[in-house]
Amino acid sequence: MQLDKLLQSQGFGSRKHCQQLIRQGQVKINDEIITDSKFKTVTTSLKFTVFQEEYQYREKVYLAIYKPQHYECSHQPQQHHSIFDLLSDQLISRGVQTIGRLDQDTTGLLLLTDDGQFLHQLTHPKKHVNKYYVIETTEDITPEQIEQLQCGVNLHQEKGVFATQDIEVLNHRQCRMAIDQGIYHQVKRMFAAVGNHVVQLHRDQIGSLKLSDLPLQEGEWCYLNEAEIRAASAPHKLQDF
Ligand code: URA
Repeated sequence: MQLDKLLQSQGFGSRKHCQQLIRQGQVKINDEIITDSKFKTVTTSLKFTVFQEEYQYREKVYLAIYKPQHYECSHQPQQHHSIFDLLSDQLISRGVQTIGRLDQDTTGLLLLTDDGQFLHQLTHPKKHVNKYYVIETTEDITPEQIEQLQCGVNLHQEKGVFATQDIEVLNHRQCRMAIDQGIYHQVKRMFAAVGNHVVQLHRDQIGSLKLSDLPLQEGEWCYLNEAEIRAASAPHKLQDF
């Protein structure tokens, strides 16, 4: 690939800006400064340096972030910080999008990508990818509520019924629940529908990818490797539930 196009594809700005970086001697490949924008290089396993910092060429990026409270999954947050404030300018200019959204007060595993197909795979309800939440409520979680959540509940102005794929009670006011859709405020609305109220929500797993298996503290992000990308998009087996 031609060097100016390559830098542009990796989020280093417009083609013109990338050409300037190259001309100014800010770009190195194999420890050698390249000043010709039209220089062609293979991209497989390519590492390159811009302003002394090393980068790996990635055709698409897949990121996990440990979302803290008081961050909104929007480029134009209304009242809080934006989740995109936690990423580099280079990743933002690649056009990474969040895969679904978490509320500002929800913490935990959030994925981002610039791969449209992958985004579709994880968000389409027909793909049956489970998202697991640890939920704390104001009232005790009763066996009747569990049964209702398993059978499915109606939600105001939404078609169909919404059921959990898997639910485990952790204590009187805490449970872990999986859903394979992702409509607005779904978990909070499902609990409201059965007469309870969610006070704390934390997503700890998507597909078979667990937040605890990633090297992340709150507010940090990392690239996902191929096995982690596969794990995140693993559908659940419908017959298990
Ligand atoms: N369901 C909710 O109610 N909120 C979230 O952030 C995620 C799922």
